[in-house]
Amino acid sequence: MSRDDDRVPTARGRMPLIGHSLAMALRKQRFMRGLAGQGDLVRLRLGRRTAYYVHSADLLRQMLVTDARRVGKGWVYDRVRNLIGNGLVTADGPVHATHRRMMQPAFRRTCISSYAGVMTEEAAALAASWRPGERVAVDDEVAQLAGVVIARSLCSSRHLTKEASRRLASLSNTVIRTMSVRAMLPMGVWERLPLPGARRTTARIREFHAIVDELIARYRADPEHHDDLLGILLSARDEDTGTTMTDAQVHDEITTLFVAGVETTSAALAGAFYELARNPAVERQVLDEVDEVLAGREPSFADLPRLTCTRRFLNEVLRRYSLWFLMRQANDDLRWGSHHIPRGTTLIFSPYSLHHDERFYPDPGRIDPDRWLDGDHLKSAFVPFSTGPRGCIGESFAWAEMTITLAAVLRRWRLELPADSKVRLVTSGTLRPEPLTMIPTPR
Ligand code: HEM
Repeated sequence: MSRDDDRVPTARGRMPLIGHSLAMALRKQRFMRGLAGQGDLVRLRLGRRTAYYVHSADLLRQMLVTDARRVGKGWVYDRVRNLIGNGLVTADGPVHATHRRMMQPAFRRTCISSYAGVMTEEAAALAASWRPGERVAVDDEVAQLAGVVIARSLCSSRHLTKEASRRLASLSNTVIRTMSVRAMLPMGVWERLPLPGARRTTARIREFHAIVDELIARYRADPEHHDDLLGILLSARDEDTGTTMTDAQVHDEITTLFVAGVETTSAALAGAFYELARNPAVERQVLDEVDEVLAGREPSFADLPRLTCTRRFLNEVLRRYSLWFLMRQANDDLRWGSHHIPRGTTLIFSPYSLHHDERFYPDPGRIDPDRWLDGDHLKSAFVPFSTGPRGCIGESFAWAEMTITLAAVLRRWRLELPADSKVRLVTSGTLRPEPLTMIPTPR
């Protein structure tokens, strides 16, 4: 152990042999929040592995931006790669850099504004499907909506019918749920577990991949260029190398977009509806703004800049309902101020923990959109989408989807929690309220 290594304190609660693993697995929220205040850099023992937990805006910037080229993604992503392929989330090095450059145009403003049409249509259809007083499984419905929005943004042509986009969305949710469990188990264990419904689950995952393959084949065979996400992925050419993506690479990128974009966005949307129901004063402000800006119309991409209070509210939602833990690995010896980070060190950071640190966000459990009125000082400690070259490529997509969906629903309904509501805040990848049954009341 080097002397620098010596100065990094070990987090409280280490147990013999298992270190901090059990506390991290079983009491995620309490454990992560407890790490705030123990230091900017804290040592964790995860079984036999040592990891450094990074908890400061400056060190995060150093890790995610300044040293981005010398920091890889780490061993959890190796497991995830076996499940979802080598797309943007799991790829490292030149493959990641090349694909990121090739995919970036599909997330430009002009493209997002065309995906926004799908977002409006789907959100309006969801709101129109509810009846006053009925019980709605809002968590399931927003997960399905998020899947359909990605499916239809990927493929806007006749090659994917609306029914097929619904099927793809539903199957993608199986892929995501299974992946969350399997990524935490040692390789090969899941396949051997006598889980009820395992065969059905495997068949659904196969069907998801078969539909994706079929779509790619149809686009390749179609002489017409389609100006949607899939069309852009298939025709993207790297400026430096002139290469295009193979079908297998496009397949992995599509799977990745579903995995990265559905659970995160739906957790935020569920969190938003839940918090509005619990905070009537905030709900009033957001409803007033939606009524004034929309004046009875469906929301569109052009409305986004005027929905400022809604955006501040969503900032609070993203602060509260964040990813609880992300991993990196030092691919080089690094020096951060007085700390030496040896090559190979596992690095962990937690948007959730940073976003609940009292030093940045007094009374962090409270939803207070006004803390963002002059929130420039908060920006460095706000990383719901991470930052740097591995930050979320879908950030603008997610903002458009969250805002449009919220506005389309709120223009018709207030969503209430039933008296027997059993909502708990569950941490899978992202914190989310579950099960979120709500009752729509017409406005
Ligand atoms: C509220 C919604 C969302 C949140 C909070 C979110 C958050 C994040 C975060 C924190 C990362 C970094 C992950 C890491 O370091 O391992 C990330 C990466 C990524 N996200 Fe999102 N995301 C959201 C929505 C989306 C959407 C809608 C899409 C696609 C349509 C998307 C696609 C991706 C991809 C492809 C990456 C990997 C980027 C790379 O490494 O180059 N995300 N996201």
